[in-house]
Order: sequence, then C-alpha cells, then structure tokens
Amino acid sequence: MRAMRSIVILISGRGSNMEAIVRAARDEQWPAVISAVISNRPDAEGLAYAKAQGIATLVVASKQFPDREQFDAALQAAIDRFAPDLVVLAGFLRILTAQFVAHYAGRLLNIHPSLLPAFPGLATHRQALAAGVKLHGATVHFVTADLDHGPIVAQAAVPVLSGDSEQQLAQRVLQQEHIIYPRAVRWFVEGKLRLHGDQVHLQADALSD
Ligand code: GRF
Repeated sequence: MRAMRSIVILISGRGSNMEAIVRAARDEQWPAVISAVISNRPDAEGLAYAKAQGIATLVVASKQFPDREQFDAALQAAIDRFAPDLVVLAGFLRILTAQFVAHYAGRLLNIHPSLLPAFPGLATHRQALAAGVKLHGATVHFVTADLDHGPIVAQAAVPVLSGDSEQQLAQRVLQQEHIIYPRAVRWFVEGKLRLHGDQVHLQADALSD
C-alpha cells in the first residue's frame, strides 16, 4: 500500500475550507494525514477547530517579521518540518515570495472566490456585483508567482441573483468552495492530479469520483 500523503494547511482566519478538507479526509478515508494547520495570525478562528481534531497547530506570526522574505523563510521552515506532499492555502491572506512559491512548485494549491481570471485580488464578491455578472464562483488553482493566477484545477459557478448582497453571494460561493476544494485535494493525494510544467493533468476517472 502507498504511504500516507502529508498535507499542511495554511489559514489566516475562519478556516471553513480547512474544516471541509479535514472532514472529507476523515469521512472519505483519504490516503493522507493533515499533518499541521499553520496560521500567520495568532487569533485565526480556525486554529481551535484544528486543535480539537488533534491536528498540530502552529502560528508563524507575520507581524513579527521585518519583511516578506524573512517571514516566508520562517514559514517554509515550519511547513517543512511536516515533510508535506501538498501545501493547501485555505484563506491564507498573504502574498508569497517567488522563492517560496518555487520551493513548493507543483504541490501548492489555493482557492480563490471568483471564476478566474475574472476578479483577482480582494473583495471579489463586491467586484462581481459591481460588474453585473450573472455567474460568479470559485476557482482551485496551483499557485505560481503570478498572484491569483496559475493553472486552474477546478471551478464551480453560482448564479448572481438580483438584489444579492455581498454576504449572500459570498455564502453561495462558499458552499461550492467546500465541495470543490476537498475534491481537488483528494485528487492530488490519490495521485490523480499533477502539474506538468504549466499544464494541469487530471486523470479521466477523477471527474466521476
Ligand atoms: C474563502 O472565500 C476563500 O476562497 C478565500 O478566503 C475565504 C476563506 O474562508 N481565499 P475560510 O477561512 O476558508 O472560511
């Protein structure tokens, strides 16, 4: 039998995507362990859930580092203690250095709350409402040095309904995030998803999972 894959999840706040992944890994018995949940903020709400699940939690406080390079180096050292096969950004609100991204090339995933390449950056739901789009959604992608871009693994679309508030739209998108992100992480740990150069390779049978 193949060895268990090691996953490290990075959060900055609520951690609902992290929770969805932890739950799916347990309920679906993935060949993987969540080795650690690491936050750059000591007050990230998601840390409590991870702790309660018996997962190692760490804080590498971004505020305590004079610059991005030194923070990313400390973060990398903390992550690498857990020898991860995959690093999952789940609401991790930091721009990463090219060095950090290169170190995890092909094993760093992110979820962004829009249908990329539309609406990179922050306040994506507000951007979508302002643009008047009728479809919005979420994107799982491999992380490259190009912020909120990078090869797309999966997307889910939701309708934008007339009169939607930012919160209503965010909630509708989040429900989809909790479906597509665990699914993509599962594909990776099952060896069905890989990045070759800048091309995403997904085994044909993955889509029927
Ligand atoms: C999600 O909408 C995610 O797409 C974005 O930040 C939010 C994080 O939510 N990157 P949570 O911390 O996973 O609950």
